[in-house]
Amino acid sequence: MAKISFKPGNMLYPLPVVMVSVADQTGRTNMITVAWAGTICTNPPMVSISVRPSRYSHHMIMETGEFVINLTTEELAYAADYCGVRSGKEVDKWKETKLTPVKSDLVKAPCIAESPVNIECRVVRTEQLGSHDLFVAEVAAVHVDDRYMDEKGCFHLESARPIVYNHGEYYAIGKRLGKFGFSVQKKP
Ligand SMILES: Cc1cc2nc3c(=O)[nH]c(=O)nc-3n(C[C@H](O)[C@H](O)[C@H](O)COP(=O)(O)O)c2cc1C
Repeated sequence: MAKISFKPGNMLYPLPVVMVSVADQTGRTNMITVAWAGTICTNPPMVSISVRPSRYSHHMIMETGEFVINLTTEELAYAADYCGVRSGKEVDKWKETKLTPVKSDLVKAPCIAESPVNIECRVVRTEQLGSHDLFVAEVAAVHVDDRYMDEKGCFHLESARPIVYNHGEYYAIGKRLGKFGFSVQKKP
């Protein structure tokens, strides 16, 4: 077996691909697709997104210090791609994607109604890293689509058919391999 060395670059895949909804101080809103997003702390619940300063959404996040992460699904793949290749500077992405903004509980940015999970976030730190600014944020509220709840109160995100971003392409998630801790579970 041989390995080929690539020049240093981003190769941490697959990644979640999310639609981030934003608002400015005047209430103008937009959506930007982000793959450089991650969970960074359990308690307090914290997430991060990295956004280039040239993105139209960047100044909106800077103005309000808030954003909403909306998870994507197979059904939302087309809209997620569109929001990642067109700028809110030129088009109204709500109109073009026919997605529905709904008022968030705690932040100015709206949630996307069609997304199965909306995560309201407040920026607590901004780091200029180079090409991208890293927004470190605390989770202020989470909303999940009740269609994916079972009678025991468990949430089944897999039923929403979430997607991932893998080296420039979108994929549906494959088959279930096991539960957290299955490697050490006693066999019945
Ligand atoms: C799959 C995908 C992932 C992307 N991830 C990021 C990202 O993590 N950070 C970023 O700044 N731009 C990212 N982009 C590019 C922006 O979404 C794109 O430039 C968008 O048009 C910016 O919208 P805006 O100008 O309305 O803010 C991504 C695009 C795609 C298609």
